[in-house]
Amino acid sequence: MADLDQTLAVALKGYAWLPDLRRRAGGGAVRTRVLGRLAVGICGPSAAQFFYGTGNLERHSALPDLVVRTLFGDGGVQNLDGTAHRHRKALFTSLLTDDGADRLAELAGEAFDSAAERWRGGPPVRLFDEATRILASAVSRWVGVPLREREVNALARHCAAMVDGFAAVGPRTARALAARRREERRFSKIISAVRAKPRSGTVLSAVAHHTEDGARLDPRVAAVELLNIIRPAIAVAWYLAFAAHAMDMWPRHQARIRSGDDDYTEAFVHEVRRFYPFAPFLGGRAVRDAFFQGEPIPTGTLVLLDVYGQNHDPELWPEPYAFSPARFLGREIGDFDLIPQGGGDPRTGHRCPGERITVAVLGTLVRRLAALDHYLPPQDTAIDLSRIPALPRDRIQVVVPEHAV
Ligand code: HEM
Repeated sequence: MADLDQTLAVALKGYAWLPDLRRRAGGGAVRTRVLGRLAVGICGPSAAQFFYGTGNLERHSALPDLVVRTLFGDGGVQNLDGTAHRHRKALFTSLLTDDGADRLAELAGEAFDSAAERWRGGPPVRLFDEATRILASAVSRWVGVPLREREVNALARHCAAMVDGFAAVGPRTARALAARRREERRFSKIISAVRAKPRSGTVLSAVAHHTEDGARLDPRVAAVELLNIIRPAIAVAWYLAFAAHAMDMWPRHQARIRSGDDDYTEAFVHEVRRFYPFAPFLGGRAVRDAFFQGEPIPTGTLVLLDVYGQNHDPELWPEPYAFSPARFLGREIGDFDLIPQGGGDPRTGHRCPGERITVAVLGTLVRRLAALDHYLPPQDTAIDLSRIPALPRDRIQVVVPEHAV
């Protein structure tokens, strides 16, 4: 089975595909074939070290065209390798700082409060959709692109569509492609306009004026990079929907967050990122002959790091299918163990530079949600693991009664 091309199996099985393949092969590295290429699936902290080790893999030849055209954007940091990657990445790490994360979290908190005010006493709202708008409003202010409400709503819809369409074929892909075209066009114009003005301290200005080899980025590529900040910040809505799902399934966590226990809230946020599905696996292409745990990895092999599998590996996470924030209390998180947003050093490798933002923003919104007297009316909260990206089916409808505090 593993020798047949597995592209269809990936589409059918989603998050379970690589963990299943590895289990059937006895748990170690597994050889397979995806998109017509020889591939090896690997998992675990030493696999993450191999994956992020310098010189083993490159990204630009590994990314499927569809993922680039929907999720990432052509010419963005995800497609770069070596020095070009390090230089571009420095732009992100210089902007996505602790202070920046705190400020964005504050803006997201304010946007949540005014949305929650509207929910009170009204009909059920879909928390996921509301969260995309809350985050679009906060992040557009944070990067320095003030938008009217209609534009915020369109940005939220488009960014969610780009994320929703990267692993699908059919209407979801078409929506993602159209959404990307529109947002790249809109932000290219904004970038060009900002270049005519003196530098200011905004994220928008920093991206617009960023230079490489003495030249500014093409306005479209600069727009892609600005969207590489805006889109994933809006994608935190997936985690808020999962957080609401966890609070509904296991209400004791909500009570503890509500009591103001900040360490527990942070542990809850990490457990949401570990437990719930988002990135299924990551891919890189071997640029030299290598071995991983005795398995030969010839040049050109596609190496797949099993993110979902590693976040549910019983050796790393006892009882991995139990949702237990306490596992993170007092635990030092290693660079290669919790990898929902990649592993290693974000400055030198491709690890997500937005992890601090994710943790800060999600923590703020989780605290607000836990404090809100809401309930989930009858609905389908099932999470279909064959669908990438997964989401509770009814996108978490919530009701906030009139008397809520
Ligand atoms: C990269 C996940 C939030 C910006 C990544 C990667 C993953 C990821 C899996 C790829 C790592 C790799 O290729 O090795 C997530 C998830 C998020 C999130 C699940 C929360 C929903 C953010 C935020 C930002 C951000 C809030 C910025 C504000 C980026 C960028 C990259 C990236 C720019 C590309 C890095 C590179 O190629 O060097 N993210 N991320 N992400 N993320 Fe995030």
